[in-house]
Amino acid sequence: MKDFWNQRYAADEYAYGTAPNAFFKAVLDPLPPGRILLPAEGEGRNAVYAAKLGWEVVAFDQSEGGQKKAMKLAHEANVTITYYVVDALEYKSEPFFDLIFYGFFHVPPIVLQPIYDHLNTFLKPGGTLLLEGFSKNNLSKGSGGPQSVAMLFSAESILDLLDDCSKLEVWEEETILNEGPYHQGSAYVIRAQGVK
Ligand SMILES: C[S@@+](CC[C@H](N)C(=O)[O-])C[C@H]1O[C@@H](n2cnc3c(N)ncnc32)[C@H](O)[C@@H]1O
Repeated sequence: MKDFWNQRYAADEYAYGTAPNAFFKAVLDPLPPGRILLPAEGEGRNAVYAAKLGWEVVAFDQSEGGQKKAMKLAHEANVTITYYVVDALEYKSEPFFDLIFYGFFHVPPIVLQPIYDHLNTFLKPGGTLLLEGFSKNNLSKGSGGPQSVAMLFSAESILDLLDDCSKLEVWEEETILNEGPYHQGSAYVIRAQGVK
């Protein structure tokens, strides 16, 4: 899968655009800046946006190509981000993040719960957890995302996945994605917001 992502990110164009995800932006804009973790951050669109708002940004992804594009975007925006190339299960940190955003972080079912359990430990108590990903209902939509039902989310699956949150809202929405060439058009997404 790493080769797949490196190939996708080898193009000059940003696969998911350079603007932040709309849900992420809407939640982040009114918050006071703190420390944010962006797992599977790809080409850095959300990392650079958060850094522009004054957040201390740590991002990671398994893809070197993603890191390269993200650092270029940060350089052009004149902001600083920390970005590691590492597999999610190998990433290590202190539990000091105020916010973690999982943006379209779809993985095979066998590693799904272990990855999210591992990463959620890096959120500090009272921290905010956000997630957006494609719903199983998006399979026939053609607006992007995994084409295997096992890799997609349902509201119930996210409730289980993030059950270490004290307050957790999970919902499905039909939205219009306009995020680069690979996330385009009408899509069913699952969104979640919780507090540890
Ligand atoms: C659809 S992209 C989303 C990128 C970014 N979050 C965004 O919304 O623009 C999914 C990303 O997950 C990363 N990824 C998948 N499995 C991973 C893993 N086990 N560890 C780290 N990154 C992973 C891929 O390399 C890819 O960049």
